[in-house]
Amino acid sequence: MEEGIFDLGDSEAEISRLERPANRTNWSTPDGVILDLIVPPTVYPPREDTDLLCRTIRTLGPGKGQRCLEIGSGSGAVTLYAASLGYRVRACDINPYAVASTRENAKRLNLEVEVHEGGPGPNEDGSVAQWAGKKPHDLIVWNLPYLDEEHVQGDVLGPMEEAALVDTDQKGLVSRLMAQVKKNSLLTNQGMILLLVGGNSKGSNAENEAQRHGFAARCVATHSFEDGETLRIIALWTPYASSKIHQHDIVDSTNQLALDTGEQEGDLFLARRQSAGRGRRGRTWSSEDEAFAGSWLLRKGRSFDHPGLVQILSGYAVYVTNKLLGASEMNMALKWPNDVYIIQNKLVGKVSGVLVEGKSKGNSNTVVVGIGVNFQGSLANKQAFPIAYLGREIEGVHRDEFTSTLNAVMASFFEHRKGIKPPVFERHIPALLARLKHGESILGHPYYRNQQWVISDLDSQGNLVIENGDGKQAIITDGEDIHWPNLKSD
Ligand code: BTN
Repeated sequence: MEEGIFDLGDSEAEISRLERPANRTNWSTPDGVILDLIVPPTVYPPREDTDLLCRTIRTLGPGKGQRCLEIGSGSGAVTLYAASLGYRVRACDINPYAVASTRENAKRLNLEVEVHEGGPGPNEDGSVAQWAGKKPHDLIVWNLPYLDEEHVQGDVLGPMEEAALVDTDQKGLVSRLMAQVKKNSLLTNQGMILLLVGGNSKGSNAENEAQRHGFAARCVATHSFEDGETLRIIALWTPYASSKIHQHDIVDSTNQLALDTGEQEGDLFLARRQSAGRGRRGRTWSSEDEAFAGSWLLRKGRSFDHPGLVQILSGYAVYVTNKLLGASEMNMALKWPNDVYIIQNKLVGKVSGVLVEGKSKGNSNTVVVGIGVNFQGSLANKQAFPIAYLGREIEGVHRDEFTSTLNAVMASFFEHRKGIKPPVFERHIPALLARLKHGESILGHPYYRNQQWVISDLDSQGNLVIENGDGKQAIITDGEDIHWPNLKSD
């Protein structure tokens, strides 16, 4: 039997707290409107996290009658602010006093909101229909409990406020929520989820947890405290919700198809087999029965400022997807400019390749990214270079799950999503550089002009910066100029 959220001791502690008087808080909305809120002693009051969440909601524009669900409404500040922007808000909280407080504050401010007891975690409280209703929402917001248990000492918080602040969930609240959102269709196709998370390991993992469930994720706002604690708002959405996925049995090349027929950014062309799959520098890309071959129309009518970063980010998208599905980072290398390698049978083999292609018509540019991944096959020893198979690294990996996760990661990196700031590729440079350097432990340090160098940087154009023993640096703009000692073909 599942344990309840609160035990008898918690109830007693909560009752003793309830004897304290309720606080009155004058809380200022991001628009500078002062709301006089009644906050009972066991209920989470508005804090910096509340302000950050409300400022982010404001960037989405007027609510226009769209449906919004707030999970964990506490005193109701976020719910009331969203209602004042014109959203039709439904709020829920596992703390009955928070439910009463949100209702009461709404009534006093003459704002119409629906408030229900329950929520998705740490233990699901109430049925989904009870706390989320039966209709999908356009916006779901949740100020997640973001403190680690060890950060809260002594009798500072009551049990219910602690449940609102402290993340005790071992499974991961983001994962729990996303599973419920998917299973119960809680989000409209064009809808968005805003999660406020902390800087601990669970908070840092929020994007990945969402991507694992097939949702795109991007950090859209941050707040840093003087003690170094950081809060982040992560936006989650259905990847490329307005675009189409075209699934084919056999085509010549998905890249060609995307270039010729792609209409909208994010359109994805998939094929079980390609008769004329192509690789970089005019090479052939041989498809086997169990392979992923897909091409995204990434840009229509405009080009990228730094195509080099688009290439390496696409390779990194495969790397992240493999990791999310269970591949060991110890065995995996991201190789500049965009390939992914895996150690298999003591050999370092290529598991994935990326081909970025474009076409121009007048001033209009179209950019397509094609990705090929080997799942299972028998070509391993028949190619000029060793091949690795993802299916040998991740047991039972399924192409559909791989496609949905990779699409989520690609959209997280590249999608221009209405309502949030466009992606900034340079933000990924530290993570990319860390992965490229880790890759040297598998591929070896690169050779350039008959000398061995080490990776020292990735510049803002996506070029590789290497350094030799004398501290001299060189900028590499072409993958053919360097070779990697642990690769048989290099
Ligand atoms: C390389 O490593 O040389 C790049 C290989 C890219 C292969 C993919 S498979 C899907 C897409 N369609 C193609 O014709 N090529 C890319």
